[in-house]
Amino acid sequence: MQLKKTLLIAALALGAAQAFAADVVKIGLVLPMSGPFASYGKHIDNGVRLYLAQHGDTYGGKKIELIVKDDAPGTAGDVSKRLAQELVVRDKVDILAGFGLTPSALAVAPVATEAKKPMVVMNAATSIITEKSPYIVRTSHTLAQDTAPIAIWAAKNGIKKVYTLVADYGPGHDAEAQFKKSFTAAGGQIIGEVRVPVTNTEFAPYLQKIKDSHPDAVFLFIPPGAGAIAFMKGFADRGLKQAGIKIIATGDLTDEDILDAEGDAALGIITAFHYSEVHPSPENKAYVAAYEKAYPGSRPNFMSTAGYDGMHLIAAVLKKTNGSTDAEKFIDAAKGMKWVSPRGPVMIDPKTRDIVQTVYIRKVEKVGDHLQNVEFDSIPDVKDPVKE
Ligand code: PHB
Repeated sequence: MQLKKTLLIAALALGAAQAFAADVVKIGLVLPMSGPFASYGKHIDNGVRLYLAQHGDTYGGKKIELIVKDDAPGTAGDVSKRLAQELVVRDKVDILAGFGLTPSALAVAPVATEAKKPMVVMNAATSIITEKSPYIVRTSHTLAQDTAPIAIWAAKNGIKKVYTLVADYGPGHDAEAQFKKSFTAAGGQIIGEVRVPVTNTEFAPYLQKIKDSHPDAVFLFIPPGAGAIAFMKGFADRGLKQAGIKIIATGDLTDEDILDAEGDAALGIITAFHYSEVHPSPENKAYVAAYEKAYPGSRPNFMSTAGYDGMHLIAAVLKKTNGSTDAEKFIDAAKGMKWVSPRGPVMIDPKTRDIVQTVYIRKVEKVGDHLQNVEFDSIPDVKDPVKE
């Protein structure tokens, strides 16, 4: 009798657990939460959680559960891959998401394919990533997408000779190639190019060489962090600014998270990018106010916005699929999806699973207490040019 009762209770408990599991969607976030790129993980995680706090945590009848794995430093693919495998096998996640840097996303793509899990890329921005698994959808940007507009802007605005400096990995290579292509097609000339290690913070030798070659401008991509801050400081200290050399870049360089640390050396820099904290739309004003309230002392940036939009995408897909996370159904539902992001109108390109968005031309100015990227021109509906 006692045994029967125990078995009955066990069976009931199991049933309840199964019913509970069926009502939950587990999202495994692979993000650098410590190390040199810790702020990437924190911003993306902040964006995801802000979305859930504002809109609720249940979609298509499923409650969202987040599991975060710190893949610091974010540049070691084997670490990210092992954590993604753990999320799939041990934690039984339904969706893989996050991915601060390209090596992390590239290493996890085959895990998503093999385990048939949707993979939502919330930052990593090398063009080829989405082609590495049919289950990837990306809510951030590609380097080429933001580079083409700044190259064209530079050529139209009196910049004729450019020296390029990029981080020596996927997004740097993409930025270098796209800049060269768009700038020379518009009549510009590349007079020198150099690639630097991803975590490089010593720019003196590069800066001297650039100064001696007298370009009109330097085009650069370095992932936001200590390297970008060191570049800006060296640029001013070594007299390149005073020599009249301009800096042009994608907005990764003037990311709100590092802009104040770059200081007045950043004033006047023109960049092309898809997100600015001072983008003057009602959606962005509401988002910025909510972000600042939720995370005092942290500034919303392109990474928090890609996390917020990534969570929106997952929520909207779950509503469409009635809670199914089947990888084929998930990706079909995501294709062609449109919404108004804090950054402006966006769409998931049904052909490439990348995001189509407005790219703004901006200038760094002091606004109140902060340096800000003030938008003064825009190009709507920009796709990843590498895939066109
Ligand atoms: C990347 O590693 O893909 C990456 C990192 C930082 C950025 C953009 C892309 O700002």
